[in-house]
This record gives sequence, structure tokens and C-alpha cells, in this order.
Amino acid sequence: MDLEKLRSIAKADVKGKRVIVRADLNVPVKDGVVTDATRLERLLPGLRDLAVRGARVVVISHFGRPKDGPDPEMSLAPVAKKLGDLLGKPVKFVPDCIGPAVDSAVEALRPGEFVVLENLRFHKGEEKNDPEFAARLAALGDLFVNDAFSAAHRAHASTEGLAHLLPAYAGPLMLEEIDALRAVLDQPERPTVALVGGAKVSSKIPILKHLLDKVDKLIIGGGMANTFLLSHGVDIGKSLAEPDLVGTAREIMTAAKARGCAVVLPIDAVIAREFRSGVAHAVVPTLAVPSNAMILDVGPKSIAHMTQVLKECRTLLWNGPLGAFEIAPFGEGTFKLAREAARLTREGKLTTVAGGGDTVAALNAAGAAADFTYISTAGGAFLEWLEGRELPGVAALIRAQS
Ligand code: 3PG
Ligand code: MG
Repeated sequence: MDLEKLRSIAKADVKGKRVIVRADLNVPVKDGVVTDATRLERLLPGLRDLAVRGARVVVISHFGRPKDGPDPEMSLAPVAKKLGDLLGKPVKFVPDCIGPAVDSAVEALRPGEFVVLENLRFHKGEEKNDPEFAARLAALGDLFVNDAFSAAHRAHASTEGLAHLLPAYAGPLMLEEIDALRAVLDQPERPTVALVGGAKVSSKIPILKHLLDKVDKLIIGGGMANTFLLSHGVDIGKSLAEPDLVGTAREIMTAAKARGCAVVLPIDAVIAREFRSGVAHAVVPTLAVPSNAMILDVGPKSIAHMTQVLKECRTLLWNGPLGAFEIAPFGEGTFKLAREAARLTREGKLTTVAGGGDTVAALNAAGAAADFTYISTAGGAFLEWLEGRELPGVAALIRAQS
């Protein structure tokens, strides 16, 4: 995939044109209120720029995973409202994404105005990447901009098909996300370290295999570290682990060694008898976990060691928590290391890029996210990129140029 071929919307002539922007408006909503507007905020510069340049902007997105047609619970109406508040100007909302009401709303759009269309997934054609559905969307615009990196791992009509039907461009958030990932994986300042955490090795095997080719050091934390400890013959008591993946863990260790990639595992752990809030806990070396206890976080010695590793590196890629951070006090390891990473970033000593699912929630809880060099808005798409996979939404933008 030749990423140099991605064409930016920044220099295209958009004046008076109908520009379809595939955004990712899939944000958390509770009782009709957006509870985390990060993804919307990150779209604003691109949207404002189009408006200033006189585009007539048609914003399309999915929201949630509706099973069977329209579902009021998964309407984009409250999100469109919030987007309007953030843009500081009214945003028209149409309760469908194709059909006569959409046609007239788009027709009525004046340069600099926005319309948000209803959840694309209310139509089966979206997820099926149905050519007819894609053609109906294409009829709404003169140009297509994909600014939804976080949905680019889906080969849907709005992320894939549409790119082949109109002059297709990458939006600024899409480009920024890709640049951040390339800066870490392809042209990093060395040495580089990847921190991969989370509950299970099984979900991260392709990432670990891909990353050990790319980075100088690999910190493994979270429940998945337990399987690695197990592969070293360490008794981990009642800790969460995947014993059938001990062989895979050994393979990863061997491959890392062959590549000269140093693997860092926890040397001490916060343990408890069970995983619940307020439970009695203790710190022990990982070599001394009692048989009736479980590992729920990394201990202070591990944090000190991992901090040292960060200090020796210039670039950090972070995906996944080091412990069961949702329940106190088992987030402390993640929070402390996140704050160290934030401090090193502030001091100009480390470039820090993080993303994927729980990661951003953990970094936010640590109060560290704002200091990171780059926080991705993507979950699944970020993970698939780390696996070295081609994202259909990005590939379509590139192929549309050839
Ligand atoms: C996300 O939140 O990860 C994206 O919006 C993609 O959503 P999806 O996993 O439902 O396709
Ligand atoms: Mg997802």
C-alpha cells in the first residue's frame, strides 16, 4: 500500500461543491447526551476548514451496531446536535441517509453549511458494501472525503465503495492518524519501545508478532503477561492466563530474541484473592505468587524498571493497560507509568503515541493523555494497523487514485 498516494482534501477546489465527509460520529451517548465528544472535537478543524472554503458539507457516519433497520436508540440526532454546538453553528439533521428528504436538504445547502445524515447502518447496504447503496450515497456529492480513520478497518459502502464512485480524498484527521502511526512504526526516532497490555494474549498475537519486527523493546503487561510468565515456568496462582497459548508465548519470545528485540515482563505484582473493589491486596515478586492469589496489576519494582526502559528510548507506542485498571487500586501501575511517559514527553525526551480500545480510557483516568504526543481516536482500526493489516478504507482511497 503506497501511503504517499493518499490525496489530501486540503488543496482541492471545494468552493460551492457538495462534499460528502465520512466521519466517525460513533461516540458514547447516554440518555440522549454525548458523554465523550473527543471524536467530534477532533473532526472540527477539518469540517471548519471545508466550510470556510465554501464547501456544502454532507456528513455521513455509522452509529452503534443496529441489527435490523432503523432503531431510535441508535439515531445520530443527539450527536448531530452536539456537533452543531461544537461547531458553533446550526447543523441540519435529516432522519435518513438516502431518499427525497435527503435530496432536498442537500440541494438547499449553501456554501459553508452542514447537514448530518442519519445512521448509515439503518440500511443493510452499508455493511454489505452494496454497490447500489454506495451509488445512492455518491449521488449526494461532487467530492468524497474520508475522515474516519477509526472506521477504516470496515469495508462498508461509506468507507470503501464510495471512494471508487467520486473523486476521493483523505481528510485531515485520517492523515494525522496515519502520520502518527507511521512516525512510530516506520520512521521512528530510535530506540523504540512498544507497550502491549490487556487481558488476553490471544487477541494480541498478530500485534506482538508484527511489532517485534519493528521495535527495539517490547513491554508486556496486563493479564497477557501472565501467559508469558507461565511459559517461563512461573507459578502464577489463580491468575487469569491462557495455558494453551504457552507455546505461542515461547515462540514470540524466541522470535523477539532472534530479532534483538528485548522483552520486558513484570518482575513484581499486586495480588489479591479475588477481583473486586476494596479487596485486601499485597505486592509480591512474580516468582512468589501464592497459589490462592491472582495477579491484578504490576508492582512498583516493575514500574521502576519499565520507567527506566522508557528513559532509554526515544519513541513509545502504547496499547493496552498494565493491570485491571477499572477497579481500584489495580489501575495504579498503568497510571503511574502513564504519568512517567507523559512527563518524559513534556520534557521532550520521548515521543508517545497511544490508541486502541481501553487504552485511551486508562490514560485519561491517569490524567496523562493530554501530554502524549498523539492519542488515536481509533479502537479496532488502530489495532489492525498494529497487526500490519491493510485497512480497506485507506486502501480504497489509494486505489481510487490509480
Ligand atoms: C469504533 O468505534 O471502533 C468504530 O466507530 C467502528 O465501529 P464498529 O466496530 O461498530 O465497526
Ligand atoms: Mg469497534
